[in-house]
Amino acid sequence: MASPETAIATECRRCRNRGREVYLYLDRAYEFDVDRAREIVADGREPVELEDECVRQSVAHSDIDDEHVDHVDTSRPGIIAHLFYRTIDGEEVQAHLLIDGNHRAARCLKEHRPYYAYLLSEDESRSIIIRSPDRPGGIRGPNDPIEPPDMHAETTQAYEQKFASSKPLSYRSQWAIAGSATHDRRGFGPFGVYVARAEGPRKWDISGQPLIDLWMGHGALIMGHGFPPVVDAVRQQIELGTHFGASHELEVEWAELIRDLVPSARRVRFTSSGTEATLLALRVARAYTGRPVVIKFDGHFHGWHDEAMSHFYPTREAGFNAGAIAQVHLAHPTDPEPAIERLKAGDVAAVILEPGGGSSGGLPWSREFLKALRNATNKHGSLLIFDEVVSGFRHGVGGVQSVTGVTPDLTTLAKIVAGGLPGGVLGGRVDVMAVLGDGTRFGKRTARVPHTGTFNANPLSAAAGITLLKHVEDGEPQETARLAAERLVAGINREAGRHGVDVHAYTNGTSIYHLLIGARRAGVPLGPSHAVAHLHRDRPAHYALLRRALLVEGVDTHPVHGWISATHDDATIDEAVDAFGRAFARIHDVEGFALAA
Ligand SMILES: Cc1ncc(COP(=O)(O)O)c(C=O)c1O
Repeated sequence: MASPETAIATECRRCRNRGREVYLYLDRAYEFDVDRAREIVADGREPVELEDECVRQSVAHSDIDDEHVDHVDTSRPGIIAHLFYRTIDGEEVQAHLLIDGNHRAARCLKEHRPYYAYLLSEDESRSIIIRSPDRPGGIRGPNDPIEPPDMHAETTQAYEQKFASSKPLSYRSQWAIAGSATHDRRGFGPFGVYVARAEGPRKWDISGQPLIDLWMGHGALIMGHGFPPVVDAVRQQIELGTHFGASHELEVEWAELIRDLVPSARRVRFTSSGTEATLLALRVARAYTGRPVVIKFDGHFHGWHDEAMSHFYPTREAGFNAGAIAQVHLAHPTDPEPAIERLKAGDVAAVILEPGGGSSGGLPWSREFLKALRNATNKHGSLLIFDEVVSGFRHGVGGVQSVTGVTPDLTTLAKIVAGGLPGGVLGGRVDVMAVLGDGTRFGKRTARVPHTGTFNANPLSAAAGITLLKHVEDGEPQETARLAAERLVAGINREAGRHGVDVHAYTNGTSIYHLLIGARRAGVPLGPSHAVAHLHRDRPAHYALLRRALLVEGVDTHPVHGWISATHDDATIDEAVDAFGRAFARIHDVEGFALAA
């Protein structure tokens, strides 16, 4: 098998052949013997030799000081970059970065911070990797990993070795995809795992290594990957058309099915995602009530539009519309009284929450809490929105509202509702949803709230959604998945005890499990609590390390929780538990995991 370096070089040559720029990795500056490097390039030999033969001296391991990156000199042959580095000890050193005189490389260094460099032969037919010999796999690009790379070097090394085949794609993505991943949670240091296929409870990386999937399409895949009836339905539909630019029968059938299953969804409107559904919900609520303010709860997630995400990552709200955020009032997620007090002002359009507990159920929920909000919103003329993007069809067939009997005015859905394809739904009261139009009036637009969307209710999602909903409407798959999740958390907790690690898992009554790291030492209850949200936010490095260790052991999970499907049978769960045990064995003595003696 090709070494990772060869694979990268091959990959890069392929990129060049496609006429794209190639950027390679450098996390240290070295002085190179340029003449020798040129010879090697001309010989067509591989980068390992470049390291062995051309690296004369390594300069201090350092981070680039952005202010000094402008010192790039393209006039001296052989030396294209004079870079001023600040070492981790604060010492400033000057390094000459010697690459095969190429102006585009210089520009790359100037524009993108010189973690990466590429070396091309003069005719540009070959490229060579410059990388650090003593930190072979480490990638630190524009999207620096959140955890210190040496938090547990052994695990990092094992990870880099196991998933070396993903590295070339990761290199490429850093220069093509902003942040190198298209979901903040998928940007994962030292580099992400690239997956090629999935089936049932498993997926396989691009080199064919199996992983038990506890992530399951961010919760969308309650029947597992590639559920055959959904695959068939989508296959059939794709032959008939993927977008008609017109209404179609499946959207009506899909809407009727949702109406039948979800108590509050008397009328529905389709969107392309959960984020769009909550965005539309807030717009509809404001239009209906004529009021500006929205109340949401700490630790409850509603997607990524400004108001949904406001207050979710308190320190990272760059780019948000300050005006929008000003109209969002943050409430306590377990005590309804402050929210109820705020409702009295009479300017609140809606209260939005994840009824099954914030953060996919990591935080507490109760019927009493929901009931208190229901009564108060009724009393003060505000709407109650249940964001059942996660809980819909998972907590119960009709979501938390069907389990508790507390019916909101509006409900948002996504994930399961579209059968694992993109799609979202806003459902609600007839009179409230009428702001979106109350029927065709011979061309006269009756809607007060504008809502468009090229892919709303697209036929493929509709076909998948209808098929999937018909398979979960008896509640059996949900129960199977819930029992599997319980088996998993019991196993995780057993293994955590056996290895003496401060990790605890719980389910909060559904097929979603949640992981607490360091809860015992922090004095946080071992179960759903408000503190859970802060535990997650305070320990990103620990959650990332556990995730990495689990990947090494053959399990992929979202760092703080995971979704179990009806295809996770006992044998698969037991295998996952064993993997947790091996992961704990790896990291049990890392600070923050080890239980105090
Ligand atoms: C409760 C909740 N609401 C909304 C969303 C956003 O949905 P989407 O990712 O489809 O935009 C999510 C996503 O995870 C969610 O968990």
